[in-house]
Amino acid sequence: MLLQYRKLIDESSRSRRSNVVLALDVKQMDKASQLRRSLQILRSVEPHICAVKIGMQLLLSLGLHNGIRKIVTLTHEFGLPAIMDAKINDVGHTNRIMTEHFFNAGFDAVIVNPIIGWKDGLEPVFNLARSSGRGVLLLTYMSHIGAMEGYGQKVINPKTDRPIEQYKLFAERALKWGADGAVVGATYPEKIRSICKILGESVPIYSPGVGAQGGNIEKTMRAGARYLIVGRSIVDSEKPKTSAEKIHVQVRKLLAC
Ligand code: XMP
Repeated sequence: MLLQYRKLIDESSRSRRSNVVLALDVKQMDKASQLRRSLQILRSVEPHICAVKIGMQLLLSLGLHNGIRKIVTLTHEFGLPAIMDAKINDVGHTNRIMTEHFFNAGFDAVIVNPIIGWKDGLEPVFNLARSSGRGVLLLTYMSHIGAMEGYGQKVINPKTDRPIEQYKLFAERALKWGADGAVVGATYPEKIRSICKILGESVPIYSPGVGAQGGNIEKTMRAGARYLIVGRSIVDSEKPKTSAEKIHVQVRKLLAC
């Protein structure tokens, strides 16, 4: 029987005492070298991470079946879950097909965009994930500056007819839809805190944006993030293993407090 995604990442995180999700964003180079470099980085940092996240830019370079599948296979050999970050964002029937491709390639979870709504939007993605023990992570407040234009804008709460920030409604949807995680930028610890109040213990927060984007590890964890998503600070470093270890040690100390 397939392990449920939540159980898989919990166990991986507990056994490795790491809450670091590696964003394997290896720089553009020829396809063979990019794949080799991706596998090499994964092998060297694996003791320090609890999951691997792969983005569309790597998928478009390497292709799903030969390149990405090899990375997902190695990820699983280390007992780590693999997350596909395609920020799924279309109508239901195409979302379902995309998600099927990702799950068939071995991914354990997908990241989706809640702006498209439930009916004929994300419902088919959640249904597919539920029936196959996979996870769905919901964008809730992104890490870049322009996030305020969408995630931060005021909208009318349909329940109260009063203004509310968009991201708060997304957090409520994460709860209502039973998402396996909410993605909130580390660059906005105050948003993490506010979203954490809505989600409580039910939906863990995944936070990208520490290091290269300026987010601070301690502030992010203290605000309530459960997992840190880290790319360039590890992948682009001259010594990825040493950089991953440093972050791992820092996170471990914070978790022990
Ligand atoms: P860096 O290099 O900044 O990489 O450590 C961060 C990784 O996370 C992704 N990213 C996001 N993913 N919501 C997401 O789902 C976000 O708000 C967000 N911000 C960054 C980015 O693609 C990279 O892989």
